Amino acid sequence: MLNFKYKLFGRSKGRKRNKNILLNNLNKFDFNIKKDLNNKSFNILDIGSGNGENAIYLSKLYPNSRIITCEIFEDGNINLINQINKLHINNIRLFKGNALQLLDGLKEDMIFNQVWILFPDPWPKKRHHKRRLINHTFLNYIHNFLKDSGRIMIATDSSSYMQLIFNLIYEFKHKYEWENQNYQIWNYDFLDLAETKFYKKALNSNRKSTFFSLKKI
Ligand SMILES: C[S@@+](CC[C@H](N)C(=O)[O-])C[C@H]1O[C@@H](n2cnc3c(N)ncnc32)[C@H](O)[C@@H]1O
Repeated sequence: MLNFKYKLFGRSKGRKRNKNILLNNLNKFDFNIKKDLNNKSFNILDIGSGNGENAIYLSKLYPNSRIITCEIFEDGNINLINQINKLHINNIRLFKGNALQLLDGLKEDMIFNQVWILFPDPWPKKRHHKRRLINHTFLNYIHNFLKDSGRIMIATDSSSYMQLIFNLIYEFKHKYEWENQNYQIWNYDFLDLAETKFYKKALNSNRKSTFFSLKKI
């Protein structure tokens, strides 16, 4: 039975079958809690990694880091596995499930240097806002998993989600320092960041993408 706590509302399977993967590679890069995380390394969590563009980008930027991606969308995970194989990347591991489940399973606190959440599902209808990943409870919870001065990096192209994040930044000003409080450095277009599928979608639809960098106090 589906545990309601980890209920997800988006699709987990694509409409077309993704055949471009060797089946014996499917679980090769699965996240293993005992082997793949220790507090001493530079640990990055990429939540809702989609097709994996950000994880690939970060793996080049921080070659000595350990990157854990969380994604429930099967085709996105397959795409990332194909890229890892093609580019011979060795510092990305996939958790193919709900990020909240991953966090609940971690024994240690203060483990991540960075947590990335690029273009979380916006759930634009007001009655669906409660499905949004980033909210009061989440920001409170994720704080425990950040190392001292660890960062949460968020991007959205939804104006109502952006407004919610602004409100949360104000509410959590004692827990997070908002580092990029200036239009030039919160406009995603001006920054050296991954060109993810949903960033490109926003660009093609002329929607502005806003980036937030929040440092743990
Ligand atoms: C709008 S897409 C953005 C994907 C990617 N970050 C990008 O910028 O292209 C949001 C993704 O988050 C995933 N997602 C939503 N909630 C999640 C959760 N609790 N744990 C893991 N993935 C989640 C969805 O499956 C979806 O692929």
